[in-house]
Amino acid sequence: MALAALLIAVLALPLSWPARGELAVVEHPVEAGRPLRLLVVGDWGRKGRYNQSRVAEQMGNVAEDMSVDLVVSTGDNFLDDGLASVDDGGSTSRSWMSTRRRAFRSHVLGNHDYRGDVLAQLDPALRNIDSRFICMRSFVVEAGIVDFFFVDTTPFQLKYWTDPGEDHYDWREVAPREAYIENLLKDLDVAMKRSRARWKVAVGHHTMRSVSAHGDTQELLQLLLPVLKEDSVDLYINGHDHCLEHISSRDSPIQYFTSGGGSKAWRGVFQPNADKLEFFYDGQGFMSLEVDGDLARAVFYDIDGQALHNWSLSKSNRQQVDQRPALLVSQE
Ligand SMILES: *[C@@H]1O[C@H](CO)[C@@H](O)[C@H](O)[C@H]1NC(C)=O
Ligand SMILES: *[C@@H]1O[C@H](CO)[C@@H](O)[C@H](O)[C@H]1NC(C)=O
Repeated sequence: MALAALLIAVLALPLSWPARGELAVVEHPVEAGRPLRLLVVGDWGRKGRYNQSRVAEQMGNVAEDMSVDLVVSTGDNFLDDGLASVDDGGSTSRSWMSTRRRAFRSHVLGNHDYRGDVLAQLDPALRNIDSRFICMRSFVVEAGIVDFFFVDTTPFQLKYWTDPGEDHYDWREVAPREAYIENLLKDLDVAMKRSRARWKVAVGHHTMRSVSAHGDTQELLQLLLPVLKEDSVDLYINGHDHCLEHISSRDSPIQYFTSGGGSKAWRGVFQPNADKLEFFYDGQGFMSLEVDGDLARAVFYDIDGQALHNWSLSKSNRQQVDQRPALLVSQE
């Protein structure tokens, strides 16, 4: 049944969505009363290297066990320099070989994706190679009790514009930065206010709160976070730092999850911030999320498929349950 619904959803995906002025909306029908289940991975596009294939293999196992509806990529889908062209997109299939189920997969762009031909990565022609691949700059996925807001965070980081060093960023259709961000924040605000879903989840590449190498992204704290707070977003999920993290906000109900452990990891950096660290793992892995009515449940897995951190939250009484120690940094 679920698989049939999924296939219909995949087949029904149009080749383009309305994109100007408003955020594109992708509907992902979920049977009423059934929980929504997904996996989240980031910073994974390394053609299997740096334990990526082991992450993919465990994602395949968990995806089958949980019958996941979708897989979310928090970006850096093609490292180190994005896609050179649409023809380069064959590497999407190779990277995902072990994620066996036909779950459809939503991607945001990471900073490394911006270092290639961004228009190639956004080209609907990639779905001829892999019909499950969805990548847009910013868009909404409506999946029953959860609305996902995918946010293009790379243009926020000022240093990519002012101090790119050796790197080239593909700002076609983005520049100038200020107008792009202003419109994006407005569109997000409208889409979030319009949302009737029980849960709102924002997904971006860059960290909001992170205790690892990149730390917090100041531009997102200043510009994006106020919109997420104003519109009662429950979770912000990102990649960028190559690790697994869960941090809870001290001044709002927002929970921050970093799932950026898709390939190269073990940076050996730990720098606390002002919010509450619930969990940090410096190695490879991924995250699952299950949302069932008022209850959300997230689990982080390592490359052996071991559950490292279980978190759940009941929205009705805001009761948060953690079942593992907060720090797992010693394994080097
Ligand atoms: C692969 O994972 C193992 C177990 O976590 C780790 O010891 C090893 O360093 C990892 N390899 C790389 C290249 O990160
Ligand atoms: C955490 O969740 C996983 C996956 O559902 C489960 O196998 C494991 O027993 C749970 N661990 C704890 C401590 O609850």
